[in-house]
Amino acid sequence: SAAGLSTPHESAHLHVSGEATYIDDIPEVAGTVHAALGTSERAHARILSMDLQAVRDSAGVIAVLTAADIPGENDCGPIIHDDPVLADGLVQFIGQPVFAVFAETYEQARRAARKATIDYEELPAILTAEEAHRQQSYVVPPMRLARGNAQATITDAPHSLRGKMDVGGQEHFYLEGQISYVLPTEDNGFRVHCSTQHPTEMQTLLCKLLKLRSHQVVVEMRRMGGGFGGKESQSALFCCVAALGASKLKRPVKLRLDRDDDMMISGKRHGFHYDYAVGYDDNGRILAASIELISQAGFSADLSQPVATRAVCHFDNAYYLDEVDIQAFCGKTNTQSNTAFRGFGGPQGAIAIEYIIDNIARDLGKEPLDVRKANFYGTQDRNTTPYGQVVVDNVIHELVDELETSSEYASRRKACQAFNTTSPVLKKGLALTPLKFGISFNVVHFNQAGALVHVYTDGSVLVNHGGTEMGQGLNTKVAQVVAGELGISISNVRSTAVDTSKVANTSATAASTGTDLNGKAAEDAARKIRTRLADFIVSVHGGQSDEVVFANDCVRINDTEIPFTQLVLEAYLNRVQLWSDGFYATPDLHWDKDTMTGRPFYYFAYGASVSEVLVDTLTGEWKLLRADLLHDVGNPINPAIDIGQIEGAFIQGMGWLTSEELRWNDKGKLTTHAPSTYKIPASNDCPDHFTTRLFDNKNVEKTVLRSKAVGEPPLLLPFSVFFAIRDAIASLADYRVNPPLNAPATPEAILDAIEATQVQA
Ligand code: MTE
Ligand code: MOS
Repeated sequence: SAAGLSTPHESAHLHVSGEATYIDDIPEVAGTVHAALGTSERAHARILSMDLQAVRDSAGVIAVLTAADIPGENDCGPIIHDDPVLADGLVQFIGQPVFAVFAETYEQARRAARKATIDYEELPAILTAEEAHRQQSYVVPPMRLARGNAQATITDAPHSLRGKMDVGGQEHFYLEGQISYVLPTEDNGFRVHCSTQHPTEMQTLLCKLLKLRSHQVVVEMRRMGGGFGGKESQSALFCCVAALGASKLKRPVKLRLDRDDDMMISGKRHGFHYDYAVGYDDNGRILAASIELISQAGFSADLSQPVATRAVCHFDNAYYLDEVDIQAFCGKTNTQSNTAFRGFGGPQGAIAIEYIIDNIARDLGKEPLDVRKANFYGTQDRNTTPYGQVVVDNVIHELVDELETSSEYASRRKACQAFNTTSPVLKKGLALTPLKFGISFNVVHFNQAGALVHVYTDGSVLVNHGGTEMGQGLNTKVAQVVAGELGISISNVRSTAVDTSKVANTSATAASTGTDLNGKAAEDAARKIRTRLADFIVSVHGGQSDEVVFANDCVRINDTEIPFTQLVLEAYLNRVQLWSDGFYATPDLHWDKDTMTGRPFYYFAYGASVSEVLVDTLTGEWKLLRADLLHDVGNPINPAIDIGQIEGAFIQGMGWLTSEELRWNDKGKLTTHAPSTYKIPASNDCPDHFTTRLFDNKNVEKTVLRSKAVGEPPLLLPFSVFFAIRDAIASLADYRVNPPLNAPATPEAILDAIEATQVQA
C-alpha cells in the first residue's frame, strides 16, 4: 500500500528546482500596495506624541495607519486579549509595531517607516524572567502541580541537591519570513494568503479587527518555508496589518518582513530559569523533586500559558517521580512576546530533570546512564505521571538497551575516559539521554480535524484538509493515507492548499498532531468513498461489500477485477457520490487545568540518543564527533520523511542548546537580530558519523496506520550533545564536580563552566 512507503515529499522536486510557490512568489495583482512597520525604540514607555508627517511625506507613501484607524478590536492575542496589533499609547518592547506604512514599493515603505519622530516617557523595564519573578510580574497566574509532600521528603532524604540553571530561548529562523498578502474581494470580503500554521485563527482575528463575519474572509495557505511554531499565533499581527491596509485602501496589500524586522518583532522560544531541589537514595533514585520553572514570556501572554503547561507535564521526561512540587511562572518582560517553538515547552521542562539526574550521578560518583535507568518509568508499577496519566505504552527500557548496544556506549565511554587521561587540552565527552513526549493538545477541543476528498472521473484524487504544510511532509503523508485507503498509487493523489472555505474551523497545525488528526479525517473521507464504490461494484457483480479488495490501482470482487479508474467512471455514470468529507476527534482525552491532572495525551513517543563531543578546553570550541539516534515513530507512514524530521529536529535542538544565543542589551534591545550575530547550525555542524534508526514499535492506540507523531519529540534528542559537553568539562575534575553549564553552551559559556569546575576540582 502507498502508506508505509518512503515516498519523496510531494513538493521535493519543486523545492529543489525553486519552483515551489511561497507567498512572495504569487504574481502580484495590479495595484498591490506594500506595507512596512514602524516600531518602538523603547522597551517600556508611554507615547507622549507621534509625529508621522515625515513618514507621510516620504516618496511613494499612500497611507500611514495607527491604532486609531482600527475599526474593531485592536488585538491579535490567541488566548488572552493583551496583544495589540499596533501599540496604542503604550509600548512594551523595542521592536513593537506602532504604526504601519503603505507605499507603492517595498523599499519605499521600509524607508518611510524609519522617518517617524516619537516622544516617549520612559517607564521601568523588566528584561529577564528572574527579575519578573522577583517583582511577581506575570502574564498569566502561576501554576502548580504537586503530588505527595516533596519538600519534606527532600529534607529527610539520604541525599539532596539544590541548584539553579538557565536555558536560553531560540529564534525560529524559518527560511521564509512572516508574510501576508491580502486581496479585497467583493462585498467587503478578503482573500488572504498568509504564511501561517493556523489559517482559521487568522480568519477569526482579522474579522474581529475589521468587524467582519467569518464567511466574508477566505484564508489560503499552500505551504510555508518553515513555521516551527513561530507562525502558530504570531503570523496574526502581520496578517491583521495587511488586512487593515487592504480594507482602508481597497487595494491588495502585501506585508513581507525583512529578516531583521522579523527577528526584532516576533516572539521566540521561551528561555527558562530553573530553581530546583531533589532528594534521592544511594542508588540515585529520586524520592522527591521540586522545581520552579520561570519562563521569559515577553510583554504579552500569547501561548505562554500552554507552553508552561507542557513544560510542567514534561518535567518528568522518561522518569517516575514519586513526589513532586512543580511550579511554573510566566514572567512578564519588556521583550518580544515568546511563543510556540517545536516542543512547545516540553524540551524546556524535560531538560531540567536531565540536568538534575546528571548532577545526582556525579554527586554519587555513578555512571549517569545507570542513574537514568534507575529512575525510568516502570511498566507495571511506578507508571503514573505527576499529572495522573498512566503510562501504558512505555518502551524506554528496550529502546535505550537497543541504543546502548548499537552505539557501543559502554566501550566508547571507557575510550573517552582513557583519551582524557592522556589529552590535557582536548577533552572528550559522551552522553546518552532518553525522551518521552506526550502527543495531543492539552486543550481537548483542539484535537479535531476535517478533510475533503474528491475522486474525479479520470480516477485522480484531490485531498484537502485543515493541516498546513511547513516542510514536515504532512501533505505527503495524508496523500499516502488516502491512496492506501483507496488501493491506488500515490501519483494519483494530490493535496491542495488549506482553504478556510473548504474545511472550516481548523485547529493549528501544531503539537505534532498534523498527521494524527488530518490523516484520520482524510482516511474517514476516503473510507466513505470506498464504501460507496464497494457497494456499487457489488450491486453490479455480486458478492459482499466487505469482501471487495482495493489494491494495485484495481478493485476486485470474487473473480472480477476492474481498474480503479474504470470503476470510478462507471460509478459516476450511475450517480454515485464520488467525493466526501471526513472528520476525526481524538478519543479519551480530558484535562482539568486547575488541578493540572487528567489524560492530556493520547499516547507517548519515545526516543534516545548518544552523542560524543570533543571540547577544546582552552578556547571553549567543540565539535560533535558522532551521534546515534533511535526514535519511536510507531509504524511509520513514511520512514524517509520521519528520518528527515528526526535529523532536522536533532540539529535544530542542538543549535538551541549550543550556538544560538539571544542577547538583549541593557536597554532591552535584541542585539542578535540577524544571521551575522545569531548562529544557527550549518551543514558542517552535522557529525561525520550520524546514524538515525526507527524503533520498531506499533502504536498501541488506534492512530492512522498505528503511526506516531514525529514533528517535535526528536527535538529532545540533542540533550545528549549538551550533556556530552558537560561530561567533557567534568573530566577536568575527575567527573566528581558538576559543571555549572547553562544553555546555550557557547564557547563563552563552556569556558565559564570550565573555570568554575577547575576552581572546585
Ligand atoms: N518540519 C519542517 N520541515 N518545518 C517546520 O516548520 N515544524 C515543526 C515540526 N516539523 C516544522 C517541522 C513543528 S513545531 C511541529 S508542531 C510539527 O512539525 C507540525 O507538523 P505535524 O503536526 O504535521 O508534524
Ligand atoms: Mo509546533 S511548536 O507545536 O508548532
